[in-house]
Amino acid sequence: MLLRGGQAAKSQRVEVEVTEAMCAEQQLEQIAEEVKDCTLCELFRTATHGVPGEGNADAKILFIGEGPGWHEDQQGKPFVGASGQFLTQLFESAGLKRDDVFITNIVKHRPPSNRDPLPDEMVACSSYLERQIDAIDPEVIVTLGRFSMSKYFPGDRISKIHGKPKTIGSRLVVPMYHPAAALHNGSLRATIEEDFGRLPMFLAEQEERRSKQAEDDDPPLQATLF
Ligand code: URA
Repeated sequence: MLLRGGQAAKSQRVEVEVTEAMCAEQQLEQIAEEVKDCTLCELFRTATHGVPGEGNADAKILFIGEGPGWHEDQQGKPFVGASGQFLTQLFESAGLKRDDVFITNIVKHRPPSNRDPLPDEMVACSSYLERQIDAIDPEVIVTLGRFSMSKYFPGDRISKIHGKPKTIGSRLVVPMYHPAAALHNGSLRATIEEDFGRLPMFLAEQEERRSKQAEDDDPPLQATLF
């Protein structure tokens, strides 16, 4: 079929978008396969399932929790227990759909008795997370709790910096309290709800910043003629 200029460009753009989405999806599937069989640290010995993460390969927002709990370990899916239910409510209150975002954790196997992940376990698992970030290329990363926060804000205190976004490289990183913290401490509930409520605004600002940056890097043809 003969396509006119505009149509051809649009069809090419759609094809590129589809190919990119498929590539990200394939990369995420590959990572998930590797996590299932992972023996890079000792956590696999006591876990039932690896929990690689799940969601939209084309997500604009990526959420990083701490590590799978009992329910997540049973089902192989992130945030499906009590804190997951609260997380889903937080998405809804912020006008986000769980299917539109991607959710993962710092460590992909459950630490025994839900203890804190150890530094060497986080290091062993870090390349999975890096590859997930590269594949998804999100605009915004939200860290949930202090372990994922320490990856981007080492030495900072969550009580001081929660809800305050920072540009890191080409992305916006927003530290938030872990949903489980709000479940255990009722006074944090309003705080985490407020922080979540500002996410759509942070995303809009980030998208505008990125598109301005893209224009500066690659000005429209007409502007370069003068
Ligand atoms: N807490 C986390 O940090 N991650 C999960 O997947 C579940 C609970």
